Amino acid sequence: MSSAPRRFEGNVAIVTGAAHGIGQAIAAALLREGATVYGLDVDAAALEQAARAPASLGRFIGITADVSDAAAVTRALEAVLSGARRLDVLVNNAGINMGKRIAELEIKDWERVFDVNLKSVYLMCRAAWPTFVRQHRGAIVNVASVMGQVGGIGAPAYCSTKAGIIMLSRCLAKDGASHGIRVNSVCPGYIDTPIMDRVLDAMPDSVKARAELNQRMPLGRLGRPEEIGAAVLFLASADAAYISGTELTIDGAVTATQID
Ligand code: NAI
Repeated sequence: MSSAPRRFEGNVAIVTGAAHGIGQAIAAALLREGATVYGLDVDAAALEQAARAPASLGRFIGITADVSDAAAVTRALEAVLSGARRLDVLVNNAGINMGKRIAELEIKDWERVFDVNLKSVYLMCRAAWPTFVRQHRGAIVNVASVMGQVGGIGAPAYCSTKAGIIMLSRCLAKDGASHGIRVNSVCPGYIDTPIMDRVLDAMPDSVKARAELNQRMPLGRLGRPEEIGAAVLFLASADAAYISGTELTIDGAVTATQID
């Protein structure tokens, strides 16, 4: 019996925020499909642990970098390209939550969430762009959120960054089309990751809050990081060769209708 061909054999991918949660799952999925994955993250210890994880088909290299810092992004891309000499896939996943309403939202909060969530995507895409153009090949997948589609009063800055990611992805898709570059975004709903743990832990009764959240989900549960990983891999793969400039919602029907 022949095994299925590995979709990213020989490919080189960058995944930002690869040390935890969704980014870790995306990196693991790419590794299983044979890619060499450069994981960028601020959490050096967790990156080291990821690099020591049981060998899969691909190879994981951690680079400690704050993706909101232009100089750090330049250094990281230089490190990737001096090592790998090519780049096939860029997944911009790193992000932070900012659950503050407008009255509490200080300028430093606004700037921080925009720097980490949106400026980082611009910086990473700009740094990778010349390589993709030279190769006439590249797939970018940016991790936005359903909160960039429908919004929420509790997180105006976060939602604005995610809406920005969707629009930036569309603009780059048109720009990259003649260069063989595809750009898409994914919009996860409620996914069970450390970011979600922190949101729930901040509530007076986190166990009750989690149970209530699960109940509110049409599929009866939160999404799993590997379910976002599978969607990202599809968009980055040759199966999605004619898909560019779009956003894929992965939320188990949470935002499918406005009225129940
Ligand atoms: P997480 O908090 O579990 O992981 C985020 C990762 O990004 C961490 O490894 C963190 O160290 C890294 N990171 C944070 N700031 C960074 C920086 N400046 N430079 C480099 N790395 C940095 O979060 P999660 O849930 O895995 O989220 C990943 C992405 O998915 C984020 O963009 C988030 O907004 C988005 N998302 C998450 C949802 C959820 O329900 N968990 C829903 C929709 C979108």
